[in-house]
Amino acid sequence: MSSNKSISQKTKQFQITDISYPAAFHTSQGMYFEDIEGNRVMDFSSGYGVTNIGWQHPKMLSVMQEQLNKSNYCPPWMPTEESANLGEALSKLVGFSPAICMRATGGADANEIVLKSLFADNQGDVLSFEMSYHGGTHATIGLGEMKKFNLPPVRNQYYTFKVQPPHCYKCPWGQKQGSCRFECATAVESKLKDNPNIRTFFAEPIIGSGGVIVPPDGYFALIEEICKEHGVALIFDEVLTGMGRTGSWFAHQTLNVMVDGVSMAKGLSGGYAAIGAAVLNADKLEKSRSSDDVSASFAWTPFACKIALENIRIIEDERLITNAGIEGAYLGQSIREILNKYADGRDFDVRQCGLMIGVDWNENPGLSMRFLLKMLKRGLMWCASWDYSTMIALPPLIITRSDSDHVLNIFEDTAKEMFGRK
Ligand SMILES: Cc1ncc(COP(=O)(O)O)c(C=O)c1O
Repeated sequence: MSSNKSISQKTKQFQITDISYPAAFHTSQGMYFEDIEGNRVMDFSSGYGVTNIGWQHPKMLSVMQEQLNKSNYCPPWMPTEESANLGEALSKLVGFSPAICMRATGGADANEIVLKSLFADNQGDVLSFEMSYHGGTHATIGLGEMKKFNLPPVRNQYYTFKVQPPHCYKCPWGQKQGSCRFECATAVESKLKDNPNIRTFFAEPIIGSGGVIVPPDGYFALIEEICKEHGVALIFDEVLTGMGRTGSWFAHQTLNVMVDGVSMAKGLSGGYAAIGAAVLNADKLEKSRSSDDVSASFAWTPFACKIALENIRIIEDERLITNAGIEGAYLGQSIREILNKYADGRDFDVRQCGLMIGVDWNENPGLSMRFLLKMLKRGLMWCASWDYSTMIALPPLIITRSDSDHVLNIFEDTAKEMFGRK
């Protein structure tokens, strides 16, 4: 009979894998999954920002069945009603007019497509943030934080430059938020001045797996201006932040930044199909149009497009974006209060934007891991930054107030156990 142990062993025997969880995923419903031995856990990571509408959503399951009865695949060179409608819907949600929408199978693929089309447009180099992650394909690995995150070596770094992100808690310039001169934005300007061949700034608007690094107010307004001045395209990787997670459809809307393009995946299907997309501002990047004539066999199948369309409908009908803003603020504030009560004297920072929450234990991955494991023992799974120094919550957008309170109770009990009673 299968057990958590036997499945983990077989996986490790036959696959190259980064599995680090002690049990084998088996079934799921809403915000919960069960492992193969019947242990039930609330997934407060949404599978790292994917299952935004929860597992086994009844409306989604019925639309999937309907679409399967009709057709699941079509030759990639044929238009379909589902893909035509999805292109239109995404262009409207992103807000560019006119927009060029490009089809992808996931997040890294969407970013590759953006890189490919920008290169067709401007032939230039790319700037990205240290601490960022843009995917596991050859080009996107080079854009990310290769050293600290142990990403495998690739050869394409010659055209990428890195700059420090606006990380106020650990400001690389030793400044304090509120009294600084945005040295982080000046660093971007200097990079562009020193390297005139940089034609694209490829940014995670809120760095996710690097530790939920929320930029201070005003940072991206400056970046937008600097990029304009230097004729540099500003692209947001919204694979994690897109589709409602930050309290708007996209983080560029939450942060009020005019960007030239965005990529998306994860919450685009909510995990019900492998799909990604890139949407570029057609006015600014006209030549990019010519670059998308090589398509992938599995990009935007009718099945995946129908799922993405239904996902958008569910997010709208259930007002999940408003919910993300309200529950995110409640969780962020409550977690801060709990830690102020139990963990005072210890160095920590709570960062939150919509349903992206990071609890940073300032380079103390051991403490972070202990806290995460204690919560897991209580039936609650969070995730962590690549270096484990920040505990990360990315709950599904369907979260209710009673779910939030359940999580806060577990969080408080764990804090009491870790730091002593008050
Ligand atoms: C910001 C960001 N970009 C890109 C990716 C890669 O997406 P995928 O795993 O779908 O290739 C991720 C995945 O975690 C991500 O967080």
